[in-house]
Amino acid sequence: MTPDLLEQGAQRVQARMAALQNTQHNTESGGRAAGFGRVHQAGEVDVTHGRILYLEDVSVSFDGFKAINGLSLDIAPGELRCIIGPNGAGKTTMMDIITGKTRPDEGRVFFGSTIDLLRYNEPQIAQLGIGRKFQKPTVFEQLSVFENLELALKTHKGVTSSLFFRLDSTQSDRLADVLHTIHLADSVHRQAGNLSHGQKQWLEIGMLLMQDPKLLLLDEPVAGMTDDETARTAELFLTLKGKHSLMVVEHDMSFIRAISDIVTVLCDGSVLAQGTLDQVQSDERVIEVYLGR
Ligand SMILES: Nc1ncnc2c1ncn2[C@@H]1O[C@H](COP(=O)(O)OP(=O)(O)O)[C@@H](O)[C@H]1O
Ligand SMILES: [Mg+2]
Repeated sequence: MTPDLLEQGAQRVQARMAALQNTQHNTESGGRAAGFGRVHQAGEVDVTHGRILYLEDVSVSFDGFKAINGLSLDIAPGELRCIIGPNGAGKTTMMDIITGKTRPDEGRVFFGSTIDLLRYNEPQIAQLGIGRKFQKPTVFEQLSVFENLELALKTHKGVTSSLFFRLDSTQSDRLADVLHTIHLADSVHRQAGNLSHGQKQWLEIGMLLMQDPKLLLLDEPVAGMTDDETARTAELFLTLKGKHSLMVVEHDMSFIRAISDIVTVLCDGSVLAQGTLDQVQSDERVIEVYLGR
């Protein structure tokens, strides 16, 4: 494992621990911490208006350059939304805004109809039930598949008590379920460092699933995968759809074709087109941004 990956992993664990500490006094039960591994204590996400994620007129500039420019977009609960667009379109920046990594200059970002995400920081947003998969896999390479998944639950009470951490039966069931979902049930005791690139990506998705996120953001999840791994990832995402809402950024059009319902095309920081893959691929403006520059 490179120091870089180790550092990123450690930061992520620390972020989750910090989030749990921050929210412990805001639980519905009036300060009593919710059960082990519960991610979202502070009330359920209100999706009665049919939207789990809602962005309206969002803009952000970096040194005068508008990376996101009047972006409006919404996603239904259980939807698997694909996002495509040329390099520099603002796809990753959009995810940075949703997850609290970047503050927009303008606009509204809501999780369900009541949670204003702009009022929360990055660890709190993770805590609310929004999981994010970055491009590079960031698993703990010296640990086994099992230990990596277990670790995804272990972050609530600090290092000392996590030494004595034991999975309860619900958590064991979930771990078994996740292992099966991510196609790693036969590799449970393998060291994560010995997995293929694709398997590491699945393991990291599994670590997110251990937290049972309502919304999952995945940035170029099949980059660097073999064709076979890509096909299995498509299957995996189709099984996640419905149980979770997903936003998937990808360049691989055969993958998009396999998983997509609605595809949103981002360009210059806003929505250029939206529809089925066939609809957007035959849109003159979309053809122009992909071929015309
Ligand atoms: N932190 C930042 N500082 C300055 N410019 C940035 C920053 N993040 C992104 N950008 C710029 O914003 C634009 C959109 O980037 P990005 O969201 O990474 O695009 P995509 O993921 O669609 O390829 C690019 O021009 C990029 O250089
Ligand atoms: Mg990007």
